[in-house]
Amino acid sequence: MLEAIATVTIVSFRNKVSMIFKGMSLNPLEKLTKWLTEERSLGSNFAHGAVLGTSGQDGMPHTRMLGISFNRQGVPKFHTSPVSRKVEDINLTNKASLTFAFQKTMRSISLEGFLEPLSDKELDADWKKLEVGFQKNYLVFGHQSGRRINSLQELRVQQDRLPSSGEENKPSSFIGYSFKIIERITFYAVAKEDFARCEMFEFEHNTQDWIYSLRVP
Ligand SMILES: Cc1cc2nc3c(=O)[nH]c(=O)nc-3n(C[C@H](O)[C@H](O)[C@H](O)COP(=O)(O)O)c2cc1C
Repeated sequence: MLEAIATVTIVSFRNKVSMIFKGMSLNPLEKLTKWLTEERSLGSNFAHGAVLGTSGQDGMPHTRMLGISFNRQGVPKFHTSPVSRKVEDINLTNKASLTFAFQKTMRSISLEGFLEPLSDKELDADWKKLEVGFQKNYLVFGHQSGRRINSLQELRVQQDRLPSSGEENKPSSFIGYSFKIIERITFYAVAKEDFARCEMFEFEHNTQDWIYSLRVP
C-alpha cells in the first residue's frame, strides 16, 4: 500500500523514466496529465486553466489565470506578453507557483519552481498552432497588454489597419515560459465520505529524484 510507505524515491522529471512501484507509474508529470484528462472528460472546457503566482519588487504576491500547455516532457508552459506585470515579476525572480483547480473532480494540483523563457524555435511552432482569429487579435493587444484605453473600439481600429496575412509571422510580443526546475508538486483530492488525499512529490537535487510522501489532508 502506498500509505504504508512514508517516502518513495522516484524518477527525475528531466529523464522521464518512470519507476514502476507495485505496478504503478509514479511520475508526477504523468499524474498531472492524467488528472487533467480526467477533468476534461467530465466536461470541463478549461481544464488546462491554472493560476500563476509570482511576486514583485515589494514582495507582494500576484496571481492570474493562464491557459497552460505542455512541452514534450509534460512540463507546464504558458504564453504571454512582455509588457505584462508577470514578466516584470519574473525578470526580478523566476520563482513561481502554478495551481490547477479542477472543479468537476474536486481536485487541485499545485506546483512550485523556477521558470525559464521558451526558445524562439518553440515560440515559432506554438504561434503557428494558434487560431488565426486569436493571432490577429494578438498582433493588436500583445505588445500593449495592460495599457489603459478608453474603449475596445481603439483596438478594432488598429486591427483594421493591420496588413493582410500579417499574422503569418510570430510577433516579438509573443513570448512564454516553462518550468526549468520544479521543486514540489502537490496533488489534493477531496473524497466523498472519507478523508481528502494529499500527495506530495519533492524534487531532490542531489539525487535528481522525486521524493513521494502522503500528507495529512
Ligand atoms: C480564461 C483566461 C485565460 C487566460 N489566458 C492567458 C494566457 O494564456 N496568457 C496570458 O498572458 N494571460 C492570460 N489571461 C489573462 C491573465 O489572467 C492576466 O489578466 C493577464 O495576463 C495580465 O496579467 P499580469 O497580472 O501579469 O499583468 C487569461 C485570462 C483568462 C480569464
